[in-house]
Amino acid sequence: MRNERSDFASKLGMVLATAGSAVGLGNIWRFPVEAGNNGGAAFIIIYILCVLALGIPLTVAEFVVGRAAHTNTAQAYKRLGGNRFWRQTGKLGVMTGWFIMSYYIVVAGWTLAYFFKAASMTPSSAEQAAALADNGYWERYFGAFIAHPLLPIACMAVFVLMSHFVIVRGVEKGIERFSKVLMPLLFIILIALVACSFFTEGAAAGLAFLFKPDFSKVTLRMVLAAMGQAFFSMSIGMGCLCTYASYFGRETNLLRTALHVGMIDTLVAIMSGIVIFPAVFSTGIRPDAGASLVFIALPNVFQEAFSALPWLGYAVSVLFYALLVLATLTSVISLHEVPTAYLTEDFHLSRRAATTVVTIVVITLGTLCSLSIGPLKGLALFGRNLFDLFDWTSSQILLPLGGALITFFAAWILDRSILRRELTNDGTLPYGHARLIVALLRYFAPFVIFLILISGLGLL
Ligand code: TRP
Repeated sequence: MRNERSDFASKLGMVLATAGSAVGLGNIWRFPVEAGNNGGAAFIIIYILCVLALGIPLTVAEFVVGRAAHTNTAQAYKRLGGNRFWRQTGKLGVMTGWFIMSYYIVVAGWTLAYFFKAASMTPSSAEQAAALADNGYWERYFGAFIAHPLLPIACMAVFVLMSHFVIVRGVEKGIERFSKVLMPLLFIILIALVACSFFTEGAAAGLAFLFKPDFSKVTLRMVLAAMGQAFFSMSIGMGCLCTYASYFGRETNLLRTALHVGMIDTLVAIMSGIVIFPAVFSTGIRPDAGASLVFIALPNVFQEAFSALPWLGYAVSVLFYALLVLATLTSVISLHEVPTAYLTEDFHLSRRAATTVVTIVVITLGTLCSLSIGPLKGLALFGRNLFDLFDWTSSQILLPLGGALITFFAAWILDRSILRRELTNDGTLPYGHARLIVALLRYFAPFVIFLILISGLGLL
C-alpha cells in the first residue's frame, strides 16, 4: 500500500537533494580533521580511490534497491528480500538512522550557535579584540557552551524544527524545493571562500599540505579511516540513499546519478580543505588539531589570516559558519526523511504525524546525547558517554555492517533480472558500464567492508 507517495519532479532537484544528503558535517568538519590527522595529500588520494571503488558502487546498490521497491527502506527489503533474514535488513538501516541523527543534530545545533556568535563578533567589538588577544578564548567558550544546561539543547531543537518544517511539506514541495535553493547557495558561498583563501599568508603552505603527497604516511589504519570517511560522507549504509532513490523517476540514470553525487561530495570536501588549511597555516595552528578544529581553532583563524583586512576576515568567518549550517541542514533533512517515510508507510500515519513523532523522539535522544557531554558527564554506557557511544557505534559498526549487507543483498540476493532492469532502465541503456560496478559489488566491496568492520572493533 502506497499512501500519498510523491516523487522528485525534476532531475536537477533530485541530484541536488541527494547531493544535499551527502554534503554535510562529514565534508566540512570531519574530512579536514581526518586529512589533517593522516598527513594531508596522501590521505586525499586514498580517499578518492575509496570513493571510486567503494562509495560509488555502494551508492548504486542502494539506488537499485530503493527504486526497484519504490517504498521506504524497511519495506524495500521486505518486498525484495529472499528469506526471513534479508527481509529484516531494512529495519537495521532505519534503526541506525535514529542513532546517527541523535548525535548529528547535537553538532548541528553547535553550528547554528557559532553562526550567530560569528555574526556578533564584528571587528570593532570588544569581545573580538579580547578573543584575538587570548589564545585560550575559544577553548573556554566552547567548553562553557557545551556544558551549559540549556543553550546547546535549545539550538539543537531549533535545528530539528527547521528540518521538520521542510519534511512536513513532503518530497517535492519540501525536500526538493528547499534543496534547489540551499544547495546553489552553498556552492556560491564555498566558491567565494575558496577564492579568499588564496590571499592568506599561509596559502602556499596550506595547499602544499593538501596536494603534495607523502606516501610514507600510508598505513592500513589510514586506508581504513579513508573508507570509513567515504561511507559517512556519502550517506551510505543506512538506507538514506535507498529512501531517496524510491522517489526517483523510471528515467533516472542510476549510474550517472551516483557518479555525479560522488563527484560533488568529493569536490566539496576538497574545497573545504582549501578553505581551512591555508587559514590554519597562516596562524600556526597544527593541522591535526582534531575534532575541535572547527569549533575551537577556526573561529579566530579567519580573522587572523586576514589581519590586514578585518572586515574581510569577519565576512569569511560568518560565511564559513553559514556554509556549515546549510550543509548540515540538508543532511539532517535526509536523516529525518528515513524514519518519517517508514512511519508513514508501515504504520499508516499521516506525513504530519510521522514527522512529529520523529521530531519528538530525536529531540529527546539528542537532549540525552548533549547532556552526556555537558552537565551529565557521568551518563555513560560501556565506558563511553552517550554522544561518543552513538557516534562510535554508528560510524564504526552499524554503517559498515549496513553497507556490507546492502552490497551483499544487491549483488547476490536480489533477483538478477531486477538488478539488470534497474541498471539499464528497462533495457534502454547499455549494460556495459554497469558490469564493472556489479563486479566491484560482488567480489571487492564485501571483503573490504569486512576489513573496516574488524578494524573498527579493534581486532586488527
Ligand atoms: N553524509 C552526511 C555528511 O557528510 C551525513 C549523513 C546524512 C549520513 N545521511 C546519512 C551519514 C546517512 C551516514 C548515513 O555529513
